[in-house]
This record gives sequence, structure tokens and C-alpha cells, in this order.
Amino acid sequence: MTRRRRIAYLCLTVPHDDLSDVEAAFARHDTDVEVVKLAEADRVDWDSIDLLSLRMLRYFHLEPDLIPRIEALCAQVKANVPGGLPVVNPPGLVARGLDKFDYLPRLVDAGVPVVPTEWVRRGTATTLSAILDRTGWRRAVVKPTLSARGWNAFRVTRVESPVEDPDPTADHPHFTLPDQSDAAAVSSAERRFAELTAMTTVSVQPFVDEITTRGETSFVFIGGQFSHAIGKSVAENGWVAHESFGGVNTRVDADPAHVAWAEELHGLLCSWFEQLRYARIDTLPTPQGGLQLLECELVAPRLFLREGGALDRYARSVLDAARNGRG
Ligand SMILES: Nc1ncnc2c1ncn2[C@@H]1O[C@H](COP(=O)(O)OP(=O)(O)O)[C@@H](O)[C@H]1O
Ligand SMILES: [Mg+2]
Repeated sequence: MTRRRRIAYLCLTVPHDDLSDVEAAFARHDTDVEVVKLAEADRVDWDSIDLLSLRMLRYFHLEPDLIPRIEALCAQVKANVPGGLPVVNPPGLVARGLDKFDYLPRLVDAGVPVVPTEWVRRGTATTLSAILDRTGWRRAVVKPTLSARGWNAFRVTRVESPVEDPDPTADHPHFTLPDQSDAAAVSSAERRFAELTAMTTVSVQPFVDEITTRGETSFVFIGGQFSHAIGKSVAENGWVAHESFGGVNTRVDADPAHVAWAEELHGLLCSWFEQLRYARIDTLPTPQGGLQLLECELVAPRLFLREGGALDRYARSVLDAARNGRG
């Protein structure tokens, strides 16, 4: 009798909501799923595990020392070395493909159309007004470069005279920023910007209007192939495409030219980051009907497997990595 396979999903607090779907898909392939908290990884008998997946590392942006802790675990289990444990996606991505500041500038250099971005390293002495003066953007988004679910992201719109700001404690506030420098200096937007840049590296981008009309499109890749596309809308009066904030996710038939665009980008990512068993490429529309890259989700993405009818394809792709594994 052959032994059932065992796949461990590393997580921090809670796994993704698709865990039960994923468990059912693996069960159809005689495979058990174990959820392992990073803080409890020492208690696991790693010799009984056939593959470790990092895809359920939800809330990675809130975890201190994530990179060295993952690196230590991967050294312990001899990640992706002959006789060691297969880890998907490759663990080097935690250091190189999780923080947008680590990979988006590189993609810009490679000629990929990324939403125009100004990068502000943690602790840099600058103001939001100075950045908007320099770029000429009147409407912008400010967000930490390591984040998920729009964590600590805010919108800002320049105005000629000060007006009262909406609730600054909202999840994703939309502040105004007066043109006059004395009023700007004491504005909620500058205060929030200063707090954020003291804490973390941030990006500033022009606000892409199309998010409110056409939404975001995610291209999901499984086992190196395009699998499905998901359109993500925002709530009425909202701007963050996530169902926790009133957005709706729907499978869409993407324009073949857009799929080809995403495939080319995915090919580039694979050439940089070894084999990607799964990946999500998040895009915004351009006014001309093309696409611009918002971010790549290469470590811990939700893959909308149920919406995409892709649970089985996903399980097979991960199991292939397990079979090619310990050797
Ligand atoms: N430049 C932008 N223009 C319009 N909306 C944006 C922009 N940047 C981010 N958003 C909105 O904020 C959300 C979160 O931003 P994103 O860059 O995807 O960061 P996260 O890593 O937090 O998901 C997006 O899904 C989108 O709805
Ligand atoms: Mg996102």
C-alpha cells in the first residue's frame, strides 16, 4: 500500500479562507494537508512531510523578522536541495518578491509598464506636497511597499483651499492636501504621510481613475500556465478592490491580448525566480485600453481557485513539485 502524501502549509495566524476547498482537492489525490504555524514549526516531524507551501502566509506584512525566520526554517528542512524538502514557491521569493520595492523597480527597468511610482525609503525627510509638486499629480495613492489588503493605504487629492477631511480613522481614508504650503503642512495627509514614512518604505502613485469604473484584473497562473482571470470591483465610493471592503470578485474572460501580456510578464518572473508553481499578476487598466502592472503576488496570494474552477489543477501542480521532490 502506498503512503498518503502530506503537504504542510506554513501560516502565521490564520490560513486563507480557501483552506477547506484546498484540503478537499488534495484529498481527491490521496494527500493530507497540515497547517503549520511558523511559531510552532520546531514541533513538526519534517521527515513525514512531502512538501511545504508558503501560500498561506497571510498577514505577512504584520510579521516581524519574517525573512530570517523563513530562511532559518528553510535551511533546517533543506529547502529545494536534493534529498531535502520541496518548498513552493521557492523561499528566496520572501526576500526578493514580497515587498513591492524589491521587484517593481526591477520590472520597470526591464520595460514592464508599471503604474508610475515614486519610492520613499523609510526615514526619508520629504513631504507629500514636495512629491506631488515634482510629479504634478493632483490625485494620488500612498501605500506601504510591504502590504496586503490595502493596509495603511490612503488617497489624497490636492485642493486649492483647505476643506474638512473625511474620517481619518476610516480603513482607507481619502484626504485633501491644500496647495498652499502653510495649510498643507498641518494637514491630515501630511501627518499621515510622515507617520507612515517614519515606520516603513512607501510608494506614491497617481490615482488610477479606472479602478472605480473597470476595477482591477488579476491573472492567475498555475503550474507555469495561465489559468484564469478575475475582475475585482470596488465598493460604491470605495477604491480598494477587496471583498473585505465591499468589492466583488468575478471570473472574467480576459481579452486574449491581455492574457498574452500577462504571460510575457509571467515568463520574465519565472526567468528571475526559478519555477513558480503559482502566481497572480494584478493589473489596472490604462485609459487607452491596455494594462499596467499594480503588483505581483508570488508568495501568499489568494488564487480564486473556486471561482476559476482551478482547484484540481492547483493540487496537481503542487503534487508535481512534491513528486520531483526529496529525490
Ligand atoms: N495607483 C492606484 N490607483 C487606484 N487604486 C489603487 C492604486 N494603488 C492601489 N489602489 C487600490 O488599492 C488596493 C491595494 O493596493 P495594492 O497595490 O494592490 O496593495 P496591496 O499589496 O495592499 O494589495 C488595490 O487593489 C486598488 O484597489
Ligand atoms: Mg493588491
